[in-house]
Amino acid sequence: MATRRPERCRVVAVAEPHEPARTAFASRHGLADEAVFISWQHLAAAPRLADAVVVAVVDDQHVDAALAFIERGYDILLEKPIATTADGCQVIAEAAAAAGVAVRICHVMRHTDYTCALKAELACENDGADHQVVAIEYDGGVTASFTLSAFTPLEHRRTRIFGTHGQLTGDGRFLEIFDFRSERRTVVDTSNDGSTQAEGHAGGDQRLVDDFVDRLLSGRRDLIMDQLPQTVDSHRVVFAAERARREGRIVTL
Ligand SMILES: NC(=O)c1ccc[n+]([C@@H]2O[C@H](COP(=O)([O-])OP(=O)(O)OC[C@H]3O[C@@H](n4cnc5c(N)ncnc54)[C@H](O)[C@@H]3O)[C@@H](O)[C@H]2O)c1
Repeated sequence: MATRRPERCRVVAVAEPHEPARTAFASRHGLADEAVFISWQHLAAAPRLADAVVVAVVDDQHVDAALAFIERGYDILLEKPIATTADGCQVIAEAAAAAGVAVRICHVMRHTDYTCALKAELACENDGADHQVVAIEYDGGVTASFTLSAFTPLEHRRTRIFGTHGQLTGDGRFLEIFDFRSERRTVVDTSNDGSTQAEGHAGGDQRLVDDFVDRLLSGRRDLIMDQLPQTVDSHRVVFAAERARREGRIVTL
């Protein structure tokens, strides 16, 4: 974004202990020596020098880094997971609210053509999921399951949603909608490949940053903060699922 649309945002500093990566990044963005830091701790210790900071260090550093930048008054684009514990997520959300800074989470896949098309189809074709192998039961009887499998060939996420009037099946590119009443099939090609991290998550990375900058430039705190409470909740679900697996029991939230 900074190189594509320099009138909208500029990179003014970097914090990175790995020297080759730090130097390459600094030279790409023309950073002066005093704007180049060897760690986020050094950057956070300096006076605030930007409107927003991107926190993309490894997961177990998110809480400390986010809290330090919140304290300095930076708005934050924070990589997911928010934190490695439910308490950590809560601490960040509460600190951000108390300090009045905006924290947005990098839900990159939400910004792909595939997910946008999926949401559009759900809005007009279905009014709720039914069930598969049950892992999660929500209030109101909606059930959902999530299967993660390591060691498969590298491939897209797959989606299957069963509604009251139809089902939707997706493979990361093609969405197939099957109407239970008419038995009509509709296939939508979202035609954007490259869903891995290295490939920019099928355009999601770029749109995520565009979206963050749009919201920052709007000056509307509500537009930046509308997402965090829900994201904390979705993290709580993930932590509860792990507790259920470890303890071999149903966990109720
Ligand atoms: N949103 C997504 O879909 C998505 C995808 C992949 C990774 N992630 C998340 O992004 C984050 C980074 O993942 P990654 O795969 O890029 O990890 P990585 O290890 O490649 O990158 C982490 C970087 O942090 C640097 N670092 C370490 N200590 C530091 C310090 N004290 N100060 C500043 N920098 C420091 C490392 O040198 C490294 O360059 C993780 O939280 C990960 O879960 C999110």
